[in-house]
Amino acid sequence: TWTSENVAQQLIEQVREQVGQDRVLCALSGGVDSSVAAALVQRAVGDQLTCVFVDHGLLREGEAAQVEHDFVEATGVDLVVVDARQRFLTALSGVTDPEAKRKAIGREFIRVFEQAARDVVQDRGDDDHPVKWLVQGTLYPDVVESGGGAGTANIKSHHNVGGLPEDLQFSLIEPLRSLFKDEVRQVGLELGVPESIVWRQPFPGPGLGIRIVGEVTAERLDVLRRADLIAREELTAAGLDRDIWQCPVVLLADVRSVGVQGDGRTYGHPIVLRPVSSEDAMTADWSRLPYDVLARISSRITNEVEDVNRVVLDITSKPPGTIEWE
Ligand code: XMP
Repeated sequence: TWTSENVAQQLIEQVREQVGQDRVLCALSGGVDSSVAAALVQRAVGDQLTCVFVDHGLLREGEAAQVEHDFVEATGVDLVVVDARQRFLTALSGVTDPEAKRKAIGREFIRVFEQAARDVVQDRGDDDHPVKWLVQGTLYPDVVESGGGAGTANIKSHHNVGGLPEDLQFSLIEPLRSLFKDEVRQVGLELGVPESIVWRQPFPGPGLGIRIVGEVTAERLDVLRRADLIAREELTAAGLDRDIWQCPVVLLADVRSVGVQGDGRTYGHPIVLRPVSSEDAMTADWSRLPYDVLARISSRITNEVEDVNRVVLDITSKPPGTIEWE
């Protein structure tokens, strides 16, 4: 019978057998899949695993800490954190086109990860125990999708760790490739992965970089992070986290509108709320959130976040809108 305990145990044994005495590398993003995959491999081979977390500065409030502290504390993984925040800001300076942003972030990520991988290969490996394996959080639906050859059009260039250079040759280890998302979550809980990670809603690899319409700057990231935190706090307080698929919060940095606050005129930016319901993100409908929750989010954001004087609700389904704005 399927129990998370049985499945976890079985997968742990498989990994142990596959890896032997070799060393293993894993790119941690803070998402559910890579976290559970890493926790599983850690349980199987302990310190033979080294995780690399690239902090690109495009995460939401508290997410880097979830990886650096909560995850490490819960699992005991050997973690290398690369602080690449400045580097990503530099790469994004002057970039406003959505695809150009995605490409810049993807390219920078690969470069930073490559360097970190080289360092890990040198520091942690030796001739008898080379760093030979790369963990990927591939799930069963990913396996089916990439084998299907359905010829889907490339709407947005999603980024994942791929295309490593030839002198870095790893074999892939994909412990979750027979599991569905809900099963991954059960296995994650079984392994003691923090609930804040296990129940995390989808969040795009390029992060807040594609939720700022306009150039990405440190100041704008701060504004968006504060607005996003308020939206998340209120959705959680209202008990709505599991009812919605995700709720991107978007800063229209290139748009200003006139407002009034206290005695004065303001000329600030709008924040867009994009709550959606979905089964698989291929299609989505806008979530009919309770008005009182929307009202609280709106008044808190306009009161607490400087430079934002308007909150708008995206009521577009997918299609024709995509879930993310860029
Ligand atoms: P769209 O905007 O295409 O998003 O309707 C569909 C789902 O995918 C997520 N998303 C991404 N996930 N890397 C990811 O890992 C990406 O580059 C990326 N772009 C979008 C989005 O949050 C939604 O869940």
